[in-house]
Amino acid sequence: MPIETNPEASTWTLSGGNTSYVLHRDQENRLLHLYWGPRLPGNALRYDPAEYFPVASFDLPASVLPAELPVCGSGWYGLPAVGVCGASGEDVTDLRFVSAVISPGKPPLPGLPATYTEKDSEAETLSVLLEDRLTGLRVTANYTVFTESGVITRSLVIENSGISPFTVTSLLSASVPFWRSDLDAVHLSGAWARERRIVRTPVSNGELRISSARGASGHEENPFLALCERGADEFTGKVWSVSLVYSGSFLASCRVDNFGHARLSAGMNPEVFSWILNPGENLISPEAVLVYSGDGFNGMSALYHKLYRTRLARGYWRDRPRPVLINNWEGTYFDFNEERLLSIAQKAAELGIELFVLDDGWFGKRNSDRCSLGDWVVNTEKLPDGLSGLSEKIHALGLRFGLWFEPEMISPDSDLYRIHPDWCLHAQGRSRTEARWQLILDLSRREVQDYIISAVSSVIASSGIDYVKWDMNRNMTEAFSAVLPPERKKETQHRYMLGLYHVLEKITSAFPNVLFESCSGGGGRFDPGMLYYMPQTWTSDDTDAVERLKLQYGTSVVYPACTMGAHVSAVPNHQTGRSVSMKMRGDVALSGCFGFELDPVKLTPEELEEARRMVMRVKNLRGLIREGTFWRLLSPFEGQYTAWSFVSEDRREVLLCAYRVLSEPNAAPLRLCLHGLQPDAWYEAEDGRRYLGAALMYHGITLFLRGDYSSAVFLLKAV
Ligand code: DGJ
Repeated sequence: MPIETNPEASTWTLSGGNTSYVLHRDQENRLLHLYWGPRLPGNALRYDPAEYFPVASFDLPASVLPAELPVCGSGWYGLPAVGVCGASGEDVTDLRFVSAVISPGKPPLPGLPATYTEKDSEAETLSVLLEDRLTGLRVTANYTVFTESGVITRSLVIENSGISPFTVTSLLSASVPFWRSDLDAVHLSGAWARERRIVRTPVSNGELRISSARGASGHEENPFLALCERGADEFTGKVWSVSLVYSGSFLASCRVDNFGHARLSAGMNPEVFSWILNPGENLISPEAVLVYSGDGFNGMSALYHKLYRTRLARGYWRDRPRPVLINNWEGTYFDFNEERLLSIAQKAAELGIELFVLDDGWFGKRNSDRCSLGDWVVNTEKLPDGLSGLSEKIHALGLRFGLWFEPEMISPDSDLYRIHPDWCLHAQGRSRTEARWQLILDLSRREVQDYIISAVSSVIASSGIDYVKWDMNRNMTEAFSAVLPPERKKETQHRYMLGLYHVLEKITSAFPNVLFESCSGGGGRFDPGMLYYMPQTWTSDDTDAVERLKLQYGTSVVYPACTMGAHVSAVPNHQTGRSVSMKMRGDVALSGCFGFELDPVKLTPEELEEARRMVMRVKNLRGLIREGTFWRLLSPFEGQYTAWSFVSEDRREVLLCAYRVLSEPNAAPLRLCLHGLQPDAWYEAEDGRRYLGAALMYHGITLFLRGDYSSAVFLLKAV
């Protein structure tokens, strides 16, 4: 039984995989957190207040209690899990237990992206109802434990069952106390074109906070935070982590108190969020996905990868091989016409590429990034036969046809803006801050949502579109809706996200066979929320293969390879000016959703031949890359070598990928130990050499990578 109730000790033990999470209702009806870690039997723990309270202390009980939902006003001085301010103006909350219900499976989160089950037997859910009698605030904390993996999700439903409105000022999806603080924190930090670099730092007294207030999860921080034992590495040690299924502004924190207790929290960013709840209304928090691993960071990543690949991503493309694509962006930028596009598509077809993607610049008067966002009408000067004419010609070449949109935006120089200047986010009487000469549509408004749904849908339906790249190229400023009253202005960002999710649900379900890829100036919104609607994301605007090692390695901490758009681009690289061999560019890109981002007409005959071989290779390997267990073996953040591998579920196939950035004179060859193989199986490499699984794992395989920017990618199969 995944959830065991122990009435005598008043505990609930949620267990799955190798993990347990234990809650307790104390004698005063408070909900306490007793444990999260390696699996325990249901009757293992009992709450003893003496373990928590120092003998004589100045500190208040609420400061030291291991509250599952800490609230403010009576001695808790950290981030409240639920912060509410009532009609009295006093933000004191007192949540007491009302009831608990256990149900099979996992209920959906209406209006929000979330992980799901396909059969009730996959998970069990505990719903604990708590109430603040004075205000009528009711909080239902929903915990789901996935039986096989032990992944735990939590989200809160806040309801006003009172008679006066109140304002929700804080809402955390996860808030987990720890007994200890001899821990490191790991998060994914970055910037545009260098997203999700792994940052590891010891936690200590005070607070480590990562956040976004940008109206998008952002390039700077990913909605993910892990705590680990100081000695934990990729293969060993305990790791506790939270990943937030949300694409807007967020907060994640690790606070260490004066008793050396850490608390891991994640949820809405209170700097840009508040929400008025009228009597009878409710508000649902985004979902937090809690993963514990006793097998280091690779163990943690494997649990996220499987869950996000199979029970977060949805739809037709979830389990299917993703088409090898060519995108014209770096090949042409805005400088194209039908003839040029068709010459690219023709060459692509000859190379075995399966999908041609027309990027920015096909609509309105869009010959640069200064205009036309919002005017989703084809530019017939560039494409005289319209999109449907181009689409027919692309299809006639045997390729699928994909199209770029940036539906959430509006250019001040657009017909849409001339008709609806108030449709953008803005603050009354203030100038509207432009970024890339564009403003953001107010997706909290129903008429704006309807416009986007209808404009994008009619292009997809009328032009035979098989793939959509959904881009979003700026962060929010003056993040206010013109139609919300002053006291609700801080609801705008979350209402925007709910509006966006509504739009995405409508469009993706109207076109179930279309493959959607999300993008935000590269990987500025690479988060689980987006993956619920679109199973892949453009990893970064940086296509340089050396930089991609870090990008793909860092991204893999949470997200599986089959979610990462990865393209071979031209050299010298447009972002770094670096020239890397075609082989290494291909060997890096094949560890994701493989494609090209260049003009193949400009390739030499040798490069074309290499590209053709790459495409064939990718088609043979993409099943293993999508479904295999990913192992990070050598970190690009620590030296000149990078290595990772994909191991099939039956452990009979392994794809080993090793890369060297700069070579050194007089250096020993690389000896690399593999992981996750069958120790007693013999594996044959592509060159015919045979190795025992145990030897590959414990003695290692020796690789000779010669020269700068070199790579070795090869398959080993059990014989
Ligand atoms: C940003 C994206 O990341 C690029 O790939 C490209 O689509 C441009 N936008 C187009 O404006």
